Order: sequence, then C-alpha cells, then structure tokens
Amino acid sequence: METEVEGGSSSGGLVQLRKGRASVVNLPDQWFILCLSSELRKKPIVRELFGTKLVLFRDGAGKVGALLDRCPHRNVPLSEGAVHKDGTLQCPYHGWRFDAGGACRFIPSLPGEPDGKARRALAFPTREQDGFVWVYSTPAEKGEPSSAPHVFAYKDKPGYSTVTQVVEAKGTLYSTIENALDVPHTAFLHRGLFRSESRGISITAKVHRTKDRVEAEYVGEPRPPGAIARILSPSGGIVTHFDRFILPSVAQVEYRIGTENHILVDSVMTPVSDYVTRIYAVVTFRARVPHWAIQPFIKPLALKVFQQDAVILEKQTETIHRFGGEQFVSTEIDVLGRHIWRLLRAAERGEKHGAEETDEVSLVV
Ligand code: FES
Ligand SMILES: [Fe+2]
Repeated sequence: METEVEGGSSSGGLVQLRKGRASVVNLPDQWFILCLSSELRKKPIVRELFGTKLVLFRDGAGKVGALLDRCPHRNVPLSEGAVHKDGTLQCPYHGWRFDAGGACRFIPSLPGEPDGKARRALAFPTREQDGFVWVYSTPAEKGEPSSAPHVFAYKDKPGYSTVTQVVEAKGTLYSTIENALDVPHTAFLHRGLFRSESRGISITAKVHRTKDRVEAEYVGEPRPPGAIARILSPSGGIVTHFDRFILPSVAQVEYRIGTENHILVDSVMTPVSDYVTRIYAVVTFRARVPHWAIQPFIKPLALKVFQQDAVILEKQTETIHRFGGEQFVSTEIDVLGRHIWRLLRAAERGEKHGAEETDEVSLVV
C-alpha cells in the first residue's frame, strides 16, 4: 500500500511542503532471501520481512522451517527458544514444540499427542538454493507457492567466478531497486569508479516492459573509463549493457565487453521493513584477465560503490521522513523508475497480466 502521510495544510507557507506519500509496497506470494545457508546452523535465528519477525530453524532432517516469531500459546518469541534433539523448535516459556510445518508436536504436562492443527504456529514455505534460504511471503496454509525463487544464471557455470556480498540500505524497496539500476547517478555519485563525468557520448536506452520485468538495453556505449571496466577489460571492446528489474525484487546489471568479458550482477533485495532493505548481491563474471588477478579488487570496489549509495539512500529516506512524504520529479532519463513502480504495484495487487510497453530514450554519458 502507499502510505498517506499527514502534515499538509491549505493555508500556504512552508508547512504546506510537508506532505506526500512514500513508495512502500507489500508483496504477497513472492520469494525473498532471508539468510545465507551458512548462517543457519544449530540455533534458531530471527529475520524480518515486511516488518514482521520470522524465526528460522533447521529440523531433524536439515530442512528449514520459517514460522511467525510468536508462540501461538502466550505469544513469546519462538526465536528465544531452542531446537530440541527431535528437530522441533521448542518455546522457552511452557516448552511447546513445533515442527518445520508449524504443527505443535508436544506440550509438556498435557497427556497424549497434542492436536497439532489447532495449536499451530503460522508457517511459511521455504527453499534452500544456491547457498541462500528463501522464504515465501504468504503463509503455507494458503496453498502451494505459485512461483519459484530467482535463479542465478551463471553461478557455478564453467569459466565463471562468483563473489557474494550482503549489505543493508536504509531505503524503501523501491528506492533501493531504482538506485541499483539508475545510470545517471553513476557518472556523478560514483565518479571514477564506473564512469567519469560525461564524455558527451550519446547513447540510446531501449526499454521493454513485460508482465514480470522491465529491461533497458543501452546501445552505442563505449567501454566506461572507470576502474571497474578497466580491470575487467584493459583493452576496451564493444560494450553490451542491460539493466533489468525482475519481480519481485531483483536488480540485474549485465555487461559484456568484447567477446570474453562478461559480468552479471544480481542484487536480490529483501524488504526488511518499510525503510530498510537488505541486498544480497551475487556478482558472476568471466574475464580474459586471470580471475585470481581481479577477484581481490571486486569486493572492495563493490563495497566502495555500495557505501556511496548507502549514504545517499539514508539521506533520501531522512528527507522523505522530514518532509512527510516523497515529492519526486523525473525526466525521461530516469529510465526505469516508473516501470519499476508500476510492476511493484501490480504485484502488490496480485495482477498477473501487466500491459507490455516499449520505449526509446536518448541520454549522454
Ligand atoms: S508461550 Fe510458548 S509455550 Fe507457552
Ligand atoms: Fe550507485
């Protein structure tokens, strides 16, 4: 839902500027990454999704359970409990035990087997894939998931290396996705890392939106002069560049430089709460230069870029709060923003068929 913020006044003056809405969405029936597989061992852990706390644990068979972090008995957080040796999660208050599906399997002092159904904890479907724990944003009792988690196309493919990075931004899901796919700020905020300030070269962005994604293909772009592209491809070469947003929360940047250099960055975003977004960035790349020579540079450079983005996103969020809502003004070179927002809103409303749209935009880099 969009959040309507109070504070407007019809009497004029500065107070009138303090009003607006914030681009906050709630996305049911979608998969999100809640933790790395390696973070989930013997102890239960707590994670937040759309501002709601879930407890994650592994049952006796190693399968991941995701339950609402609220014991159905007297509402104590289940994450304060422990995994029993039978693989159930035991509440720390009266010792009720729940399996990964949320059924109550044991109640101390209650004779016989408890009726698991009536005393269930709310459970969410889980998948473990590519070293990540994915959780579905609609409870399991509503039926089988209607989709599968995102697949990293080049992870573990021959010839490719992978670097994974987890970072958190103080921004809405929408602002964080737009930031990851926004070209104009790269030449300014990240001067020298991706692009230097404008070289005055006109390029074209071909935009194509379908029901679950929007893609911008940048045509006519020379190899960026920044550090990242120089490391990947010292000799330059023809550049193919795609930016994509894939529902519900994947920002994907793909570069091919020459025939041998290919980099695909999947930033999978988790809406922790309205104004906090966690980013699981998976960088897969293939390069002519030996990977051992570039691998050490990728993480520090990516972190540097992210740090600059994180500072800006936090300031943006502070300002939005201070003014009581957003008042965004856009031009045609804000290529993907409005498409991202339309897709998010359609997903929020559960619409299965969005209208297709194509567009062509010129910009100078
Ligand atoms: S509150 Fe959890 S068992 Fe009583
Ligand atoms: Fe950025």
